[in-house]
Amino acid sequence: MHPSLAHRGAKGLQASSGGAPISFAGITKRYGPVEVLREFSLDIVGGEFVTFLGPSGSGKTTALNILAGFIEPSAGDVLIDGVSITRLPTEKRNVGMVFQSYSLFPHMDVRDNVAFPLRMRGVPKAERHARAEQALAMVRLAGYGGRKPHELSGGQRQRVACARAIVFEPRVLLMDEPLGALDLKLREAMQDEIKEVQRRIGCTVIYVTHDQGEALAMSDRIVVMSEGRIEQIGTPAAVYDSPSNAFVAQFVGETNFLPAELAGGRLAFAGADAPAPARLPEGWRGRVALRPEHFTRVLEAGATPALAGRIGDVAFHGGSYRYVVETEQAGRVIVQEQRRHGGDGPVAGAPVTLGFSLERAAFLDG
Ligand SMILES: Nc1ncnc2c1ncn2[C@@H]1O[C@H](COP(=O)(O)OP(=O)(O)O)[C@@H](O)[C@H]1O
Ligand SMILES: [Mg+2]
Repeated sequence: MHPSLAHRGAKGLQASSGGAPISFAGITKRYGPVEVLREFSLDIVGGEFVTFLGPSGSGKTTALNILAGFIEPSAGDVLIDGVSITRLPTEKRNVGMVFQSYSLFPHMDVRDNVAFPLRMRGVPKAERHARAEQALAMVRLAGYGGRKPHELSGGQRQRVACARAIVFEPRVLLMDEPLGALDLKLREAMQDEIKEVQRRIGCTVIYVTHDQGEALAMSDRIVVMSEGRIEQIGTPAAVYDSPSNAFVAQFVGETNFLPAELAGGRLAFAGADAPAPARLPEGWRGRVALRPEHFTRVLEAGATPALAGRIGDVAFHGGSYRYVVETEQAGRVIVQEQRRHGGDGPVAGAPVTLGFSLERAAFLDG
């Protein structure tokens, strides 16, 4: 029995004993000759919120299902709390799961849906109903226990699924695209709620999404995946500011690439040059990666480095503008500009000079 069951006090779910550390050790998964996960290795700290981010088919769900016990790996091991669980059945792993499809039982009311994992664990009825009510309060659905799933909105149903996943106080919570079916406003509100629930019960969360904005907003660390491999692991700021390759630079946020090479202590690119950044070796060739917000419209001439061009379509985003500039030296560049109070905004068709600093740029080899 989970130790927190024995000394659950008045605080109920909040008295949970915290999240478990998790290790994926060289996990490979093959279907026939196809490797959908390759040497997948990762250590997660207890209580951490880690997101698997990648395009469809990159192996996110496979990695999660191997941890949950729905899929057996072809090679490698998974450890929870330092103990190998690869041979342990799903129900013994103390892992809660939320999927994109709510997978609630339609004929059961909300309370019985939430209490279901407790019933499977032989918890007596009165206690399981009391604990279901606590879990429902945690996801802000106190008083909804008597309703049927079809009497709830999409967001409410997903909160019920979340309550069901946490009701047995798992030390690990796995969420596979849980907000994928919801509209943007609701998704953002639910992101905050999920973070709040995690703070209160202290479990380790692995969250799966293909939405880079969601990953940046929610995670302690992001694992960027592509074709069954880990491309980069880091904090949201590290992944955004220092992408380790072009795939990450393009998949997380938007990036402008300027071909460049280093010769004679100068970095030559986009028809201009600049002093060489210290970290690059002589003879380096690659691409300078700049985010849309790294550019500024230069109002007086003579700034270096700079790109000259003409403004294309301008999109108004409330607090900022986003526009394309067709530059003479580097082709199309995407720019995001904060609105300044009283300043003139960008005008489609106008000539423009874009200044930027290499300090915030990432330098990608090859
Ligand atoms: N049972 C299966 N048999 C064969 N291929 C599979 C099976 N399950 C998943 N795959 C393949 O594995 C790859 C990774 O799938 P998945 O982990 O679901 O990706 P993601 O969740 O990142 O979209 C995909 O190319 C998918 O087609
Ligand atoms: Mg998936």
